[in-house]
Amino acid sequence: MTEQDLNQIMDEVLICKKCGLYKERHRVVFGSGNPQAPIFIVGEAPGFEEDKTGVAFVGKSGQLLEKILLACNFSREKEVYMGNIVKCRPPQNRNPVIQEQAACLPYLERQIEIIQPKIIILLGSTALKAFFGPSSRITKERGTWRSWFRYPVMPTYHPSALLRNPHLKRDAWEDFKKVILKYRELVDKQHYCKYI
Ligand code: URA
Repeated sequence: MTEQDLNQIMDEVLICKKCGLYKERHRVVFGSGNPQAPIFIVGEAPGFEEDKTGVAFVGKSGQLLEKILLACNFSREKEVYMGNIVKCRPPQNRNPVIQEQAACLPYLERQIEIIQPKIIILLGSTALKAFFGPSSRITKERGTWRSWFRYPVMPTYHPSALLRNPHLKRDAWEDFKKVILKYRELVDKQHYCKYI
C-alpha cells in the first residue's frame, strides 16, 4: 500500500510545474530509501549529481551522510528514507526561494504521512526553517528534540556545512548519537552501534 501511495505522488511530481524549477531540471529527485523506514531524513534540494541521477544524496554531501549513517549502523535500505524540501535542482545550487519551497513542501508532507517515520532528521537551515518558520536558527536549535505534529524531530547541520567547516562534525555526531538513543527507545532496543 505504502509504495502504491508513494507512486501516486511520484506521478504528480514527475509532471509538476508548480514553480519555475522544472524548467532547468534534468531529473526530479523524489526521495529514496526504504518506504517503510523508521527514520526520515530531510535535506534541502538536489545538487548536480542528484539532478543527473534522480537519486537523493548521491553527491559529496550524500557520501558524507552515508558515512555518518554507517557509523550509526543505519542504512538507506533498511532504517532510512531521504527526501528534500524541493525536488528539483535550483540553478547553480542556490538556496530554494520561499515560493519554491511552499510549492513543493506539500509533496514532502504527504510522503511523511505515508511513511509515518518514528523520527525525522532535518539537515540544515533550509529544512529547519521550512518546518519551524523563518526565525529558526540551526546553530541554536540543532541537537535538541522538537515536535512536528506527532513526529520527534532532530535538527542538525547539513553535511555540506560539515564539508565546509569540518570542526562542526563533532557537534553533528553528538546530534546523531541522540538519534541512535531515540531509535533504541522508539524502534529497536537492541540496535547495535559500536560507538555508543
Ligand atoms: N543536498 C541536499 O540537501 N539534498 C540532496 O539530495 C543532495 C544534496
